[in-house]
Amino acid sequence: LDNGLATTPPLGFNDWNAYGCNVSEALIKATADAMHSNGMQAAGYQYVNIDDCWMTSNRDAAGHLVPDPAKFPDGISGTAAYVHGLGLKLGIYEDAGTATCAGYPGSLGHETQDAASFAAWGVDYLKYDNCSNQGISATTRYTAMRDALRATGRPILFSLCNWGQESVWTWGAPVGNSWRTTNDINASYGSMLGIFHANVGLGAFAGPGHWNDPDMLEVGNGMSATEDRSEFTLWSEMSAPLIAGTNVAAASADTLATLTNRQVLAVDQDPLGRQGQLVAAGGGLDVLAKPLAGGDVAVVLFNENSAAATISTSTGAIGKAAAGTYTLTDLWSGASSTTGGPISATVPGHGTVMYRVSGGGAPAVPSGVVSATGAGKC
Ligand code: DGJ
Repeated sequence: LDNGLATTPPLGFNDWNAYGCNVSEALIKATADAMHSNGMQAAGYQYVNIDDCWMTSNRDAAGHLVPDPAKFPDGISGTAAYVHGLGLKLGIYEDAGTATCAGYPGSLGHETQDAASFAAWGVDYLKYDNCSNQGISATTRYTAMRDALRATGRPILFSLCNWGQESVWTWGAPVGNSWRTTNDINASYGSMLGIFHANVGLGAFAGPGHWNDPDMLEVGNGMSATEDRSEFTLWSEMSAPLIAGTNVAAASADTLATLTNRQVLAVDQDPLGRQGQLVAAGGGLDVLAKPLAGGDVAVVLFNENSAAATISTSTGAIGKAAAGTYTLTDLWSGASSTTGGPISATVPGHGTVMYRVSGGGAPAVPSGVVSATGAGKC
């Protein structure tokens, strides 16, 4: 969506995966505090997002949505003010039907009034769900809210949550900043793997301002540390929104280290905005390549199976000219090595190895030096 937002995939938190319907102002504030102090905000996480169940069962007499006063004593506006005071942004949830998935009032037919409420409250992000949709086409329902958000004049990131229905990737780019490509994730390797398979082939539809969304992260919610790193690696390689879904205030050192790996985040946030694609797959051994701004390539070797395996590829196969010497930086260990072409690693079961491949082809330009061609100006 051409609203100037999400030029790189959104980074944030959403309560649903860890808390379900148990959202509250206290939870959102505590989460924002934690993100502010635990390194997540410094690493780029910006949005603190409220999911379903934040409102009362009925609209007020004037038709306005009402934040549940027991859960949000200061309302959404008070919560937004607190989150903004930490330098973070606030997201909210609604539904493009007559009711949310948990049965609260939906926005279908109330788009203008509800968008105006969100803007007045200081909301920065809307996740828009797809329950009780009355069989009306998604393009009609989601476009109505897009237009209502635009009419408020407030920049509000628009996240389409229609679970990949009606091949949303084929029409989502002018409507939303991201679109869910699948049904809901859960904190299991099988769920994560199935969503990876569904999302990985959709790279042609994604780019700055409009991203495929393979659903929120389950890092920290029960998979092994290796599987957590695989989700984070694969989601970053696929230029996915990285929306943490765990209790970040009580997150383990492993979970925080995964969520704040700057080198992996830089792959997700690369300004070129090209989703990584499979360049080889077979027997559950995958090779993905993602071209990065400046000519580097991020390579992922993913072992879908439970036993360790060696996965091999080459600089040529990932799109580098097959000449010269290349530097491989392992983005999880930080180790650096060189190769004349072959790329190979032993990858643990359910694990990933991620390299940034640089060099070869054009000579590297030291930072701060403007090249003769003018690249690097501005
Ligand atoms: C379905 C969505 O896909 C989930 O992410 C979550 O928002 C629930 N609805 C909330 O009811």
